[in-house]
Amino acid sequence: MNTREELMDLLDQVKRQLINNQEIGLDAPILSANSLNYLRKGLQLDKEALKENFYCNNLEELENFISTCDQCKLSKERKNIVFGEGPPDARLVFVGEAPGVDEDLAGKPFVGQAGKLLTDIIKAMGLTRDEVYICNIVKCHPPHNRDPEQDEIKMCLPFLEAQISLIKPEIICAIGRISAQSLVHKDFKITRDRGQWQSFKGIPLMPTYHPAYLLRYPQAKRSVWEDMQEIMKKLGLKDPRGLSD
Ligand code: URA
Repeated sequence: MNTREELMDLLDQVKRQLINNQEIGLDAPILSANSLNYLRKGLQLDKEALKENFYCNNLEELENFISTCDQCKLSKERKNIVFGEGPPDARLVFVGEAPGVDEDLAGKPFVGQAGKLLTDIIKAMGLTRDEVYICNIVKCHPPHNRDPEQDEIKMCLPFLEAQISLIKPEIICAIGRISAQSLVHKDFKITRDRGQWQSFKGIPLMPTYHPAYLLRYPQAKRSVWEDMQEIMKKLGLKDPRGLSD
């Protein structure tokens, strides 16, 4: 039995016990309206309601859980789900927007041109890609590289939340507008608000420009480097080039 099944089993037993107690005339415990509803429905577990929730013990289980996901229209055209990669206990998690064409084919995040630039940024921080976790707000490639739509983000966000609660990173770096708007707030303006610490589920979050933006506007690289230095400071990393104090 996995943890989820154990919990279901436990719930079922508690429910039986409560019904027995009621039948022999013991006072019913004080329960929330939701719990009372659940009890009144009888012993059948509500499978549909449970489908909305999921519990995974580790990233592998989570990846497996979403491997057949067809909750949104992106599932129709994707070649691969791009779950994310990196150590399960990474101190730093980069969250991009959505897989592009290259990522869709490879099943891995940030492997195209923007990905190469992200790899260089990570190296400049004195880290390697193997030391950080990289993933996206949505796990499937939006056709024609369009922005992911609100319903797609809404469906996919619980998976990212589960991913982050399993990794428990010290810092999240939101890459680009869509990522920051999804993780911070919908009115987030990347040109105005990047570089300022935010938080996601209590974890410090640094929003910065997307490397695809840097490919078009290389003059913005200086700002990204300032944002990365903020992250490095918080992680206690020294600038490998000796350019910061
Ligand atoms: N852009 C993203 O936001 N994510 C990727 O994985 C690739 C490109």
